[in-house]
Amino acid sequence: MNISYCLKPRSKRRLEPFKPDQPLPFGQLRTDHMFMMDFDGHEWYNVKIVPYCDINVAPGAIALHYGQAYFEGAKAFMHPDGEIYTFRLDKNAERANFSGEILCMPQVPIDVQIKAIHALIDVDRNWFPIQDGASLYIRPFMFGTSDSLGVHPSECYRYMCILSPSGPYYATGFTKPIRLLITQKFHRAVSGGTGAAKAAGNYAASLRAGQFAKKFGASQVLYLDAENRYIEEAGAMNHFHITKDGTVYIPEFTDTILKSITSISMIELLPKIGFKVIQKRIELNEFIEGIKKGEIVEAGGFGTAAVVSPVGEYVFEDGTILKVGNGDIGEMTKKIYKTYTNIQYGRAEAPEGWLKKVERIFQG
Ligand SMILES: Cc1ncc(COP(=O)(O)O)c(C=O)c1O
Repeated sequence: MNISYCLKPRSKRRLEPFKPDQPLPFGQLRTDHMFMMDFDGHEWYNVKIVPYCDINVAPGAIALHYGQAYFEGAKAFMHPDGEIYTFRLDKNAERANFSGEILCMPQVPIDVQIKAIHALIDVDRNWFPIQDGASLYIRPFMFGTSDSLGVHPSECYRYMCILSPSGPYYATGFTKPIRLLITQKFHRAVSGGTGAAKAAGNYAASLRAGQFAKKFGASQVLYLDAENRYIEEAGAMNHFHITKDGTVYIPEFTDTILKSITSISMIELLPKIGFKVIQKRIELNEFIEGIKKGEIVEAGGFGTAAVVSPVGEYVFEDGTILKVGNGDIGEMTKKIYKTYTNIQYGRAEAPEGWLKKVERIFQG
């Protein structure tokens, strides 16, 4: 598939490397361009990179009414050689298609997704933020565009990708453990639903729970399964905990849990640095007992945006606090974070296929 380029004039493009003098926020900035293509019910067409701008969507577009939309979140990193590398983008592309399948949306071949995103990064490479801990956040997404008010899958779609030069997800960086609210009030997903997809609607449905969590000084809800028996996710992250013998537990990927690319990477990586990894359904009661008995000494969340978010404590709706260890960031979590980010930033060797260089193809 050929991409056509309709770019901003050079005088309006960033031509010098981006060296921000203030700490960058997460997800606020945009680069000069975006990628887009349309699906007419049979094939993709209008494949192009254009200046970042507002888009026209029919007021009756299916995505606006029935939420037929998904998104992805990936990152690119600059390595000491000055080149930009995307991290496991093939896995995001596979998951995009998985979401598409769940939401009755068309597939986009993996190589097309990767080619499109690499081409966009290549065009906007001067936007890569040169700052400690910064990265280029990649946001591909697709939505149903058919102007039709019946509840059925859209016939036409748009697939797009935008980029955001970003600092760390938490302004405090990897310095302050978060608090999670344990509640039975809200659930993120039920079996047979869309929990395993990165469906836009899942996030709309999580906003109320997120706001509720804030009332308890928590940054997010620890989601349980619909019967309040098992731990599922930590807000928009997979949950993990570590026992004192160095075993990392991650909830089994059921159809109510997003298969985190950070988690699958940890499952591959951690045994190489001395951890045992077990994936199984985690009973909330056993988890709480484990913390109280001092068997579980560290916990946190895995996700592309925050990478590793240590959890210092859990709070219940009656205000009771359950501290994990002494509430600080544990040494094992630190080691995991350091090992992972060293790989992402090219300071340590990556497992085969994890990083893909953005080739310098565009010359304009
Ligand atoms: C619900 C949910 N779980 C887990 C994750 C972590 O997934 P990943 O590591 O692929 O970013 C995310 C973020 O994408 C998420 O939104």
